[in-house]
Amino acid sequence: MKSPSDLIKNYWVDLLFVAVTVALARYPEIPGFLPFINGFLISFLVWFSLVRHSFESTPVFSLHNSYKYLAYTSTIAGTLIIRLVSRELGGHVAPFFLPIALISMLISKEFALRIAVFLSVLYAYSTGFSMVDFGFALASSVVTAISTHDVSRRLDLARSAIFVSVVSGIFFVFQSLLIGKPLNVIILGSTFIAPLIWSIVTVGILPYVEYASMIYSNIDLMELGNLNNPLLKNLSLKAPGTYYHSTIVANLAEAAAQKIGANAVLTRVASYFHDIGKAKRPYFYTENIGDDDPNPHDELAPKLSHLIIQDHVKTGLEMAKKHRLPLLIQDVIPQHHGTRVQKYFYHKSKGAGEKLSESEFQYSGPKPQFKEAGIIMLADSVEAAVRSLKKPTPSRLKNLVQEIVFSIYNEGELDESGLTLRDLEIIIEEFTKVLVSMMKSRIEYPKEEIKGVIKYAQNSSDKQN
Ligand SMILES: [Fe+2]
Ligand SMILES: [Fe+2]
Repeated sequence: MKSPSDLIKNYWVDLLFVAVTVALARYPEIPGFLPFINGFLISFLVWFSLVRHSFESTPVFSLHNSYKYLAYTSTIAGTLIIRLVSRELGGHVAPFFLPIALISMLISKEFALRIAVFLSVLYAYSTGFSMVDFGFALASSVVTAISTHDVSRRLDLARSAIFVSVVSGIFFVFQSLLIGKPLNVIILGSTFIAPLIWSIVTVGILPYVEYASMIYSNIDLMELGNLNNPLLKNLSLKAPGTYYHSTIVANLAEAAAQKIGANAVLTRVASYFHDIGKAKRPYFYTENIGDDDPNPHDELAPKLSHLIIQDHVKTGLEMAKKHRLPLLIQDVIPQHHGTRVQKYFYHKSKGAGEKLSESEFQYSGPKPQFKEAGIIMLADSVEAAVRSLKKPTPSRLKNLVQEIVFSIYNEGELDESGLTLRDLEIIIEEFTKVLVSMMKSRIEYPKEEIKGVIKYAQNSSDKQN
């Protein structure tokens, strides 16, 4: 059991944060000591029991402090703006949409739902704990959190706002019937329109929040993955082989991410950027060396080759930081190689009689820290291996994918990624499916398989006749 002084030492930021939000919930009124303590205790209880411990269970919070700062600042700003608008114009137009949509799009739906409850409690405190007000705030924030979490286009956000408008309007009608008040059409109209207006404000504010926090919503991640992006344009011009490799990695990784419920948009866009560092010295990487070109590594010591290849991680990270790429995309750059050993150069060194250990040929890591980074590591290795497969058939492709995925798993590289064995099975299935459809023209189907397909087609046409 922790002593009160330990609690204050460990959680002083949260205590201060709750005190500030409680004070802002009644701004500019100065509540008496007892009402403030009442509000503080209730909010403190909700914050600690519902929100604070999810900092440990939501992976992004342990990856970057920016996520915590974003959670604190958007809740404080949300409390203030909800208070100001509801005080001046009425609670029915209060902008619950704004902070909840931002948190849902930038952090997670689950966390936004927790903040929805916290903000609704603060709002109820500001109205003297009216259950009707609490119900309205909770309904509109919960619907906002759920409907905005997988928004990847501005149009989707508009759709969510319309949905929230309808729910708020219906809630307002029920509320009027419940307390036996005549229905005020003007208030009903403004209740309906408010979420639409707040969604426009959300779209306007989003790029500033993203630039400052380097945490991106799917809407702007999609925009970032466009070929007009200077980093991708540069890669496609200087290292077309790497650019092509990255698009295939993106196709593989996106399909797998979608199937296991990871963020498919983040996975696709991060795949595009994972090797941007190769634009610096493209001629050292296999995918950019033509069949008739000399291989520069033939002239180099294996250790030097390893250092040159490994440099694409450091260079890529520097480029990503300079261009303020999203934090999770920056993470993928070193994590897609994790702490793996460059076996080819290690064996070359051994073959040349050098006494260098495996660790001399190891990437500096860290290992993938989240599911999307783990999937990209797998897709990256699979793409490189499939390129050299001579006569691909669906079963050969599946065996190769299986072999690569399980060898990376056995190396322990996926230990910190959060990927389960079930996820790996789904990833193998999805990678194989994408590869088979991509390589259709190159695939040699075994004779029995062709016979089977013909027989199946004949049977089904017989049935139709
Ligand atoms: Fe790489
Ligand atoms: Fe790669």
